[in-house]
Amino acid sequence: MPGLIGPSDYSREPPRHPSLKINAKEPFNAEPTRQDLILSYITPVDYFYKRNHGPIPIVEDIDRYSLAIDGLVDKPIQLSMAQIRLLPKYNVTATLQVDIKVFLFYLFRNIYSMLDSIMESGSKIMFHHLQCAGNRRTAMSQQLKVRGVGWDISALGNAVWGGAKLSDVLELVGVSKLTSVTSSGGKHVEFISIDKCKEEKGGPYKASVPISQATNPEADVLLAYEMNGEILNRDHGYPLRVVVPGVIGARSVKWLDRITIIEQECQGFFMQKDYKMFPPSVNWDNIDWSTRRPQMDFPVQSAICSLHDVDIVKPGKVRIAGYAVSGGGRGIERVDVSIDGGKTWFEASRYQKTGVPYVSDDDSSCDKWAWVLFEAIVNLQSENADIVVKAVDSSANVQPENVMSIWNLRGILNTSWHHVYVRSTAAKL
Ligand code: MTE
Repeated sequence: MPGLIGPSDYSREPPRHPSLKINAKEPFNAEPTRQDLILSYITPVDYFYKRNHGPIPIVEDIDRYSLAIDGLVDKPIQLSMAQIRLLPKYNVTATLQVDIKVFLFYLFRNIYSMLDSIMESGSKIMFHHLQCAGNRRTAMSQQLKVRGVGWDISALGNAVWGGAKLSDVLELVGVSKLTSVTSSGGKHVEFISIDKCKEEKGGPYKASVPISQATNPEADVLLAYEMNGEILNRDHGYPLRVVVPGVIGARSVKWLDRITIIEQECQGFFMQKDYKMFPPSVNWDNIDWSTRRPQMDFPVQSAICSLHDVDIVKPGKVRIAGYAVSGGGRGIERVDVSIDGGKTWFEASRYQKTGVPYVSDDDSSCDKWAWVLFEAIVNLQSENADIVVKAVDSSANVQPENVMSIWNLRGILNTSWHHVYVRSTAAKL
């Protein structure tokens, strides 16, 4: 691709915030601390987890960059960044109030670019959380070893993504809205990057989504060029990335080079030989990758960010706070907290925007693709405590109690109850 290159070594990596916890240096994989993660509803770009499989691509000349859209379509095209920016962007009905909050949040950070992106005529904003399927892998591996980069609980973030809707872009190649198969037999939309991944034997990262999802305006699949009102940074996919809401982060391909309409889902490594959920009985000797579908939607998840194992706390009031989120646009119906290891429970308060009551699945009061923060203040007595959180989504899906019941050899989707063990200064050790 003229204008965008995928380097084969790590000599030209971008700068990163020093507070990130680095889980792998090359390729660069890092997450914020638990406390930093929930400092704000919108995760600042610096604190947003970075999940890469190769060296970060470089834009040599943005004017020469173009996105190819081809495959089983009537009229393949090449779109420049300028042409993509001319397309309408997504508008969330409930975001007017939200925009003001975001505006205030950015007052000290990047007031002018945020203001521009909100006020600019035709500009639309969308809140969306992105979560790596490997989030909380370390805890699964502590029970029984799994393969993959270790992550604590912060391999996710909540951002405002700005860009063109994929359903609008596909109309330019003759694929209309709500298509499930094109006249030439296309059923999937493949996203191909430019980075060089060793799993792909030096080839680019790629993934696909069904064309029915890609052409459904309600599914909100975006070709994003902005994150939190700023131009995407290199780590997060500059100049253009896909954002597939409600779906594991692995399908949100960064550094987009080409979109191609295909008959069968993408045959790339990360769709066929990774990011699939196997039962606990499958091991590296008996695995047959073809028996499972690529994972798409994220299940319901929550975690406590205000405490660590094993914090020492004084008896008295303790704040339990964290995030809860589900896939597929499902809201968070409840967040249950326990301080006795799950024997008794009470409900935490949930919120997205200050002053706006959160109602799950009500688009006028919640951001359906975004996370929900929760908080509970508890009175800890003199005993050590096993603090637990579990969330319930709007389809009444609930997190499983036991990590071993969902153990899988690649360590994905650890959505088991999240425990934090704290010691009381008054307890006998
Ligand atoms: N796209 C490309 N081109 N290369 C990658 O390594 N990683 C994927 C996805 N898109 C990846 C990619 C994975 S596994 C995740 S979880 C998200 O990007 C992470 O996005 P982020 O680094 O912006 O947080």
